[in-house]
Amino acid sequence: MPGITRRVRFPANFLWGAATSAYQIEGSPLADGAGPSIWQRFTRTPGMMANGDTGDVACDHYRRWKDDVALMKRLGLRAYRFSIAWARVLPEGRGRVNAKGLDFYSRLVDELLRNDIVPLPTLFHWDLPAALDDRGGWLNPDIADWFADYANLVYAKLDDRVRQWATLNEPWVVTDGGYLHGALAPGHRSKFEAPIAAHHLLRAHGAAVQAYHANGKHRIGIVVNIEPKYSATQGAEDLAATKRAEAYMNRQYLDPVFLGAYPEELREIFDEAWPAWPDADMALIRQPIDWLGVNYYTRNVTRFDANAYPLRAAPVKQDATCTETGWEVFAQGLTDTLTWIKQRYGNPPVYVTENGAAFYDPPRAADGRIDDPLRVDYFKTHLAAVSEAIAQGCDVRGYMAWSLLDNLEWSLGFAKRFGIVHVDFATQVRTIKNSGKFYADVIATNGDVLNGA
Ligand code: BGC
Repeated sequence: MPGITRRVRFPANFLWGAATSAYQIEGSPLADGAGPSIWQRFTRTPGMMANGDTGDVACDHYRRWKDDVALMKRLGLRAYRFSIAWARVLPEGRGRVNAKGLDFYSRLVDELLRNDIVPLPTLFHWDLPAALDDRGGWLNPDIADWFADYANLVYAKLDDRVRQWATLNEPWVVTDGGYLHGALAPGHRSKFEAPIAAHHLLRAHGAAVQAYHANGKHRIGIVVNIEPKYSATQGAEDLAATKRAEAYMNRQYLDPVFLGAYPEELREIFDEAWPAWPDADMALIRQPIDWLGVNYYTRNVTRFDANAYPLRAAPVKQDATCTETGWEVFAQGLTDTLTWIKQRYGNPPVYVTENGAAFYDPPRAADGRIDDPLRVDYFKTHLAAVSEAIAQGCDVRGYMAWSLLDNLEWSLGFAKRFGIVHVDFATQVRTIKNSGKFYADVIATNGDVLNGA
């Protein structure tokens, strides 16, 4: 990475892993008494999913979980970040418990521990029970209690074996994709709904943390996506636009959690759609957390654009390598993200809970190998960026590659492949890509392979 000459080093107990999420890999969404989620519905809404793809089968992980843990073992993973499908545990989202749904995750946790892999569950990775959406979903203030009740059930079942929990995955994406622009479930498009959904997501997080600290024995945190914003010019309008973009995406969730207040810029962005919230809500949201998960993929160079709704800020395309999802490869942004968190929020313990890239994977070589040099390169530069942040004093304790498996990339379907393991969706055959082999070497050498050792 340009500018970085330091030797790559990671602490001795650094936690190396890979991540997935329930709807993206499990398949069998209604098996064993599970209820439908909003993704079940969204994938059946004409025009919303690339290629008409659905999560009905996905990686068939719900049936192949044991083989998948064996695969993790082959890669040498020390941790596995996965999510729990709320509607498997509570088919209607509240009330009646489906013991078989909970058992699935209990068996998975046991199998991981048998293989010396630390389980890192996330309670909510976007697949809201459809029955709750019928009651308003994230727009209904009662959802904080529904979420805490669900969380309590899962803690009671798994906290004897799980030592590190996450409440939500990327609440910003839930509101931006699900309530503001409508590209993700539940597909709403409302400037008036987005801040309300955001607030109740945060209240739900706070309620689940509070519940955990009352009864749980270990550590709990939240996972956010951070995309650092760099102003295209030093002009006043571009600088102000960059601050709005940064407040909206990077501070909207972390400021309330760590500092107890929303960024001022949100009022400017949402205007008459920005509600006033009671102090008691802000206190609920600001529960002390034990760790922070950061998902990093790319950066954004920002300029003022009067027509960009609702931010009046737009990205400026860079002349640089981009992934298949059109995201600029910019490893320096990960160092900048981690040092920004250290400075702004008091150096909390951080795990990079997702980092990776969708690239076109060339056809299998004659000897069966899947050579994915761009993904290998992405991991190399981004891991060097993490090491640099640690050298600069950031308390980074682990790294999870996104993703263990090629999977359903939400509305973009199966065509965008993020896996370090290739999945043939017709046969469900898994093949470790070269990036997976490279990552296994990273783990085995605690990162020293990055020094060309
Ligand atoms: C999400 C994942 C997603 C990945 C790549 C994150 O926004 O947590 O579910 O697949 O990024 O887009």
